[in-house]
Amino acid sequence: MKRILVTGASGLLGLNFCCFFHRKYDVFGIVNTTELVGLPFKTIRCDLITKSAGDLLDEVKPDVVLHCAAMANIDQCERNPKEAEAINAVYPGLLAAQAAKRDIKFVHISTDAVFDGEDCGENGYREEDTPNPISCYAETKLNGEKCVLDSNPDALVARVNFYGWSTGGKRSLVEFFYNNLSAGNPVNGFSDVFFNTLYVHHLADILDELIGLNASGIYHVFSADHHSKYDFGVSVAKKFGFDPNLVRAVSWKDGGLTAKRSPNLIMNTDKLQKFLGHDLPVQQESLDYFYQDTESGLRDKIQGFVIQTK
Ligand SMILES: NC(=O)c1ccc[n+]([C@@H]2O[C@H](COP(=O)([O-])OP(=O)(O)OC[C@H]3O[C@@H](n4cnc5c(N)ncnc54)[C@H](OP(=O)(O)O)[C@@H]3O)[C@@H](O)[C@H]2O)c1
Repeated sequence: MKRILVTGASGLLGLNFCCFFHRKYDVFGIVNTTELVGLPFKTIRCDLITKSAGDLLDEVKPDVVLHCAAMANIDQCERNPKEAEAINAVYPGLLAAQAAKRDIKFVHISTDAVFDGEDCGENGYREEDTPNPISCYAETKLNGEKCVLDSNPDALVARVNFYGWSTGGKRSLVEFFYNNLSAGNPVNGFSDVFFNTLYVHHLADILDELIGLNASGIYHVFSADHHSKYDFGVSVAKKFGFDPNLVRAVSWKDGGLTAKRSPNLIMNTDKLQKFLGHDLPVQQESLDYFYQDTESGLRDKIQGFVIQTK
């Protein structure tokens, strides 16, 4: 059985990846400050910044590294730019270099936010389009892509946008809509922010395929179609049987956000589709998958990993 090392295993993406991949791989997850219990895979607790990347790889001896750890909170990055650069840019380059030395496949998670969202053209941003980050988070993530590919040209850099269940129940947009709509609370949905988001387990499916095909370089790993965040909220309401009228269409300019957001992140996935040789999921299929996993108890499972305090 292949061994996979997943960093950021206590985060939204890493934890879902570990839960997905442990059915097929021998999974080692790296956790840092978040304490979780009852995980169905092995974990190592460490601060990646202070741990030698080479020693970590020699201890675990993985076939694949899936690097999800990051400072992913946009406002936190604005407040702590040096720390953001260290974990989002410098460290991925170091880990990727050590992986290359040991012939370990390295997969780095990046973001659609490397683009400014001002003009994505008729068909969305392509891999070769020039990024223009407009926040500290986005700038450090773009630097991370460069550090990884400079030190390890065989690495796969996946630009993504995703949603799913998190331990705290508040990390992703789908949780924001679900929590409020299930309680009958009206919510705002940006009608002028577009994205090609995917359910994390669809994303895991595709990354698994890309790893199997030994893909390298930058790939846009997104849904085949795009929607506004308002449309997404309405779809969540309809799928789960909540009142779609509770979702109000508003502009992101009225959202009171601290860091600037890229409004129009429509992504082109032609390169990925061609490489895989099949269609990618559309957003409704991804939401259906999320709904099925929720009905099967994934939300309770993920939130059950949190230590309950009295
Ligand atoms: N969330 C999104 O909407 C989104 C969109 C596009 C791309 N991405 C990218 O997807 C990846 C995962 O994001 P996410 O939303 O899952 O993030 P998240 O929920 O905030 O989790 C971040 C993870 O990184 C770990 N981490 C941070 N600093 C660390 C350090 N110094 N040492 C060890 N571990 C450290 C955290 O560990 P502890 O909690 O244990 O400290 C946590 O497991 C990131 O690369 C992000 O840029 C996210």
